[in-house]
Amino acid sequence: MTTSDPDPGAAVTVASTRAELRKALTESGAGRGARVALVPTMGALHRGHAALFDEARSRAQLLVASVFVNPLQFGAGEDLSRYPRTLDADLTLCGQHGVDVVFAPSRDVVYPVWPPAVMVDPGRLGAVLEGASRPGHFRGVLTVVTKLFGLVAPDVAVFGRKDYQQLVLIDQLVADLFMPVEVVGAETVREPDGLALSSRNRYLSAAERVSALALSRALLAGQAAGPSGPNGVLAAAEAVLASEPGVVVSYLSLRGTDLRDAPSSGEARLLIAAKVGTVRLIDNLAVQLC
Ligand code: PAJ
Repeated sequence: MTTSDPDPGAAVTVASTRAELRKALTESGAGRGARVALVPTMGALHRGHAALFDEARSRAQLLVASVFVNPLQFGAGEDLSRYPRTLDADLTLCGQHGVDVVFAPSRDVVYPVWPPAVMVDPGRLGAVLEGASRPGHFRGVLTVVTKLFGLVAPDVAVFGRKDYQQLVLIDQLVADLFMPVEVVGAETVREPDGLALSSRNRYLSAAERVSALALSRALLAGQAAGPSGPNGVLAAAEAVLASEPGVVVSYLSLRGTDLRDAPSSGEARLLIAAKVGTVRLIDNLAVQLC
């Protein structure tokens, strides 16, 4: 266990084994009444993650962040080794946003047996949208989140709406398995021009970065067309996407807030996934249908 003191943030305790994590939690007051918040991440932290830390900080006395690039949620064709790893910078950001303990384990700590024998099945909702493009992805996500909840035993856990389907599935995981943790969703943090912050944005060339703006523009056009109903929403979003040849759409979908079916009125969610060059991006926005 090491304690770093990144300037100008406060000291962050870094735990990389289960024993170190247990020690850090105990010494920080977990189990003695301190309310514990957890923000799971895969590192390469940016302002989107920082917003989750701020949200979690306001809800607990003890804030734990995990930094773990979870191999179980990467598919065969997805390059796990290419995922950015920036632990030193991550620790600095954590210190600046009030994180008390960073859990940064190796694969063997999280998966003593590889591949794991027991995994969490996300059910039908895990096989649509992102799940259709990335088979096994949500099984990997729900398995690692279950492990992290078991290790940290948080009272509250904060996730971003940027990964809307992930948030819905984690809500369902906690409800279905009676997990004693409150799940909080936090709003998507964007660049001033609308692009949702993502660790993958760093792989976009300057021209691709411009093309990528079509995603948020399409969502905004769809949102503005809410009063014209579902067909109007999809047509408005499609028109924006069609005008940007650099964007190859994987899906554009309008669903109820629980992602189960397409609503004809009321609150809905417009979701998009697309490739810009070799970079796969996702985004989503609330839409009010009349
Ligand atoms: P990661 O992609 O690192 O994201 C960690 C958390 O940050 C997620 O809850 C995600 O929704 C949130 N996030 C990412 N970009 C954001 C943005 N622009 N605004 C607000 N929140 C944002 O999601 C994962 O890691 C993994 O699947 C994980 C849950 C850690 C399990 O391995």
